[in-house]
Amino acid sequence: MHLYPLIRPLAFALDPETSHRLTIKALKLLPPHRPSDFPEALKTTVAGIDFPTPVGLAAGFDKDAEVPEQMLTLGFGFVEVGTLTPRPQQGNPKPRLFRLRRDRAVINRMGFNNGGQPAAYGRLQLDLRLPGIIGVNVGANKDSDDRIGDYVRGVQAMAPVAHYLTINISSPNTPGLRGLQEEGALEELLAAVQEVRAKKPIFLKVAPDLAAGDPERIVRAAIDHKIDALIVSNTTVSRPPLKAGSAGEAGGLSGAPLKPLALEALRRFRAASGGEIALVGVGGIANAEDAFERIRAGASLIQLYTAMVFDGPHVANRIARGLAERLKRDGFASIAEAVGTG
Ligand SMILES: Cc1cc2nc3c(=O)[nH]c(=O)nc-3n(C[C@H](O)[C@H](O)[C@H](O)COP(=O)(O)O)c2cc1C
Repeated sequence: MHLYPLIRPLAFALDPETSHRLTIKALKLLPPHRPSDFPEALKTTVAGIDFPTPVGLAAGFDKDAEVPEQMLTLGFGFVEVGTLTPRPQQGNPKPRLFRLRRDRAVINRMGFNNGGQPAAYGRLQLDLRLPGIIGVNVGANKDSDDRIGDYVRGVQAMAPVAHYLTINISSPNTPGLRGLQEEGALEELLAAVQEVRAKKPIFLKVAPDLAAGDPERIVRAAIDHKIDALIVSNTTVSRPPLKAGSAGEAGGLSGAPLKPLALEALRRFRAASGGEIALVGVGGIANAEDAFERIRAGASLIQLYTAMVFDGPHVANRIARGLAERLKRDGFASIAEAVGTG
């Protein structure tokens, strides 16, 4: 049934970006079928959207919305495509993606390589008929002289094909982008997005590299501007102790070494918000225990990417079923009941 342990040595023999392209190509061949039925207790409603399970695919795997349907089929409760910028762009020079096997981690400095929003729009028009939930993550072009305008355009352009939109201002790989998390810029950005948002929920994705007071300030701005959820977090520019040779590469670190940082960031956002805004936990989640810990720390949904590189796509299914067992074991009737219980 599960071929990934057989395929992995081959996948790991290739350079990571070639391996990723081949994976997307192979996934396209997967015959679509209805995603499996999940236990009732995993159903959860966030920002008015009914999610079949709280386990999502994080942005960056399916940047161009080539295989959202297949990823839903494989057991993800929702799929976030992107980051998509208004115009196509190449991203940074290769190599820009590094596997840190001994650390179960990845460093990437892709730099928003993507085919642009119009191309993805066409593909998503077909996919929106599916039963699954698809979020669209939008960003700014590197050479844009109006970055806030790029987010406004992204929200307007992609809203018709998204169940929710994510404003990604936390990628470390577009110089200056994280500056949009600063006080004045964030207010301006969120006010501009609020004006054009139509009816679709808006999520804001933040970095785990936080100064004192950042969570309080970001939560206040998000609530003031009616943001529906905060995604905590993107990759880190910090470098906890690592074993692998590529540890010194520039870029964002994801996977196991990010886990304690992302969990701590989530706890800080929960403390700052007291449950007033929904949180999505991301960063180093690899099993049901990690996911449950994030939910008890305040996350209503979780996402993952790097664990799939090491354990294969069935990790989503495994986590969903493990979560259902844990809910039952601890006497919770639903995910929502367990959120923020510590
Ligand atoms: C190769 C790679 C590309 C990524 N690209 C994006 C992206 O385009 N937009 C985004 O918001 N996050 C991107 N991310 C970050 C992930 O969505 C996620 O926040 C991060 O990897 C932490 O989760 P993980 O430890 O489960 O991978 C990327 C991550 C990786 C590894």
